[in-house]
Amino acid sequence: MDEVLPVSAHLTGAVVHGAGRGRGLGFPTANVAADPGSPVPPPAIYSGWVVRHSTGTVHRGTISIGSNPTFCDTPEVHVEVYCHDTTDEFYGERVGLWFVARIRDTVKFTSADDLVRAARQDVLRSEALLSSERGRRVLTGALTAHDTTVPV
Ligand SMILES: Cc1cc2nc3c(=O)[nH]c(=O)nc-3n(C[C@H](O)[C@H](O)[C@H](O)COP(=O)(O)O)c2cc1C
Repeated sequence: MDEVLPVSAHLTGAVVHGAGRGRGLGFPTANVAADPGSPVPPPAIYSGWVVRHSTGTVHRGTISIGSNPTFCDTPEVHVEVYCHDTTDEFYGERVGLWFVARIRDTVKFTSADDLVRAARQDVLRSEALLSSERGRRVLTGALTAHDTTVPV
């Protein structure tokens, strides 16, 4: 099992349409086009908080950064977040991703079922990380930066 590493990063961008595969997998994701100059962490799976700028609402997330090698042969890197606590779609909205920890490397799975099994484990680990002392600290930073008092 990969070692979970704390990550200090914050990315902003707009939610755009992806390939539309995630919903069928049971893991619908918001695809984020990072703002120019907003640093994108290296490809991997991460836990992090999602702040919707229009409302200040904060969601618990598991973030995939990578080329989705299980499905794609192109090197294009996608930033996607699966929100644990909402089924809202927020196309066109601006969001901030506040990274808490790196969970594992991206894997080229031999089947979609294997990916879904791994993603379920990722979400469990992400939940624990978001609830950890470090997760709460990152959340406090996000709330302060966005000057929001909306409870999670
Ligand atoms: C928790 C999580 C873990 C993921 N892990 C991998 C992975 O290891 N390998 C991979 O190819 N894609 C991974 N993905 C990305 C999926 O391939 C991607 O979300 C899916 O293809 C849907 O893409 P779409 O939103 O563009 O339709 C992961 C996604 C999530 C939410």
